Amino acid sequence: MYVIQNGTLVSAERTWRADLAMEGGKITAIAPKIPISPEDQVMDASDCLVFPGFIDPHTHLDMDNGVTVTADDFSSGTLAAVCGGTTTVIDFATQDRGSSLAQALTLWHKKAEGRSSCNYAFHMAITDWNENTRRELGDMAAAGVTSLKVYLAYDALRIDDGQLLDILGECRSLGLQIGCHCENGNVVSLLQKRELARGKRGPAAHPISRPPEVEAEASLANCPVTVVHLSSAAGLEEVRRARARGQTVWVETCPQYLLLDDSRYQLPGFEGAKYVMSPPLRSSADREALCQAVRNGEVDTIATDHCSYSFAGQKELGREDFTKIPNGAPGLEHRPALFFHQFAASGLLSTERMCALLSENPARQYGMYPRKGVLAVGSDADVTVWDPKAVWTISAASQHHNVDYTPYEGMTVTGKAKAVFINGVPAAQDGEPVRTGMGRYVFRNALNY
Ligand code: URP
Ligand code: ZN
Ligand code: ZN
Repeated sequence: MYVIQNGTLVSAERTWRADLAMEGGKITAIAPKIPISPEDQVMDASDCLVFPGFIDPHTHLDMDNGVTVTADDFSSGTLAAVCGGTTTVIDFATQDRGSSLAQALTLWHKKAEGRSSCNYAFHMAITDWNENTRRELGDMAAAGVTSLKVYLAYDALRIDDGQLLDILGECRSLGLQIGCHCENGNVVSLLQKRELARGKRGPAAHPISRPPEVEAEASLANCPVTVVHLSSAAGLEEVRRARARGQTVWVETCPQYLLLDDSRYQLPGFEGAKYVMSPPLRSSADREALCQAVRNGEVDTIATDHCSYSFAGQKELGREDFTKIPNGAPGLEHRPALFFHQFAASGLLSTERMCALLSENPARQYGMYPRKGVLAVGSDADVTVWDPKAVWTISAASQHHNVDYTPYEGMTVTGKAKAVFINGVPAAQDGEPVRTGMGRYVFRNALNY
């Protein structure tokens, strides 16, 4: 048995002092004082918060974008996740056009199995909607893949509005959830061509080719849907309108949209390429609107959209043409600390709200609750012991991502993962790995909505 003693346990509703015991991969006891025997292992968590392990519901590991493959695979990405306090990721398996969903799922299992240091589940990104794909949706649910993603942007991935409506209808009857990359791809293509024709070839043209309107304009139809990586005030207004009509809309945003703004695209030389992601970083007014939405309870989950490409050799592919810069940025390791620092340590949000946004809500929304997302007897022993007073500085030199930069270089933050347990076994200590490769596939339930 492993016992965490004297910690302050956190749920979405309350914090309380207790000991917590784990055995056989499960939480076996929570009590003011748990008796221990000599063979038990013990950790003193006085002065620490004890969270249900953080869940990142949006990552892209070992993803081939057709030109290059993300710098992080499941081995490096999940190791970095654990070092930062994340115990489960939901990665995007992506259908290749001309292939089946089953082929994509088999491939993603191969990428993750035996290499993952944290637990993992999959969404399925549909890029080729046809009768076979329609028939396969039930197989996905049966395999524990109960959420899908559709892209309205990216030529190689996107579906059209008619297909979206069709997919939404099918998913509803199967209890599958849809996450939507809300950018109008036709408009983006046109604006990209315009910028290039004006001789604007550098990273500064990236946000101009993807203004907030292309996010807000994306049709939300009238079905339950998750808006992933919400980036703009205009997109937020659209969500508010849909919710006011009675539509169920879950909102995900990411640390980059809460902390950084589009001034990064004006950095000298090719530096702005580090921030080329879609949607792009927005104005400081957008950033503030999203922070306020987090505080108001209008945001449901905080993910990373971790999609890392090294500056050397990968981002550089777009030196002469911003449309060729691989889209995406790293963040998986740093999300808990960035969020704790910005919202909890500063007093803007309670630790309970942080628990909801980074752990309980993603577990509930994606069919893993109460196995995950809560500290309760019988739940999986994925636990993050958090030192709320640790002060440290984020840097590429000390991160565990397999990438040569971090968008948060030099940021000094308060709060750090002191110890991380995966399935009841210590996996990281003080931000460094102690045991790797223990991650397991998480079968997810369908939703009743
Ligand atoms: O730029 C990004 N976000 N790349 C990853 C794919 C996506 O759109 O989620
Ligand atoms: Zn996306
Ligand atoms: Zn993404």
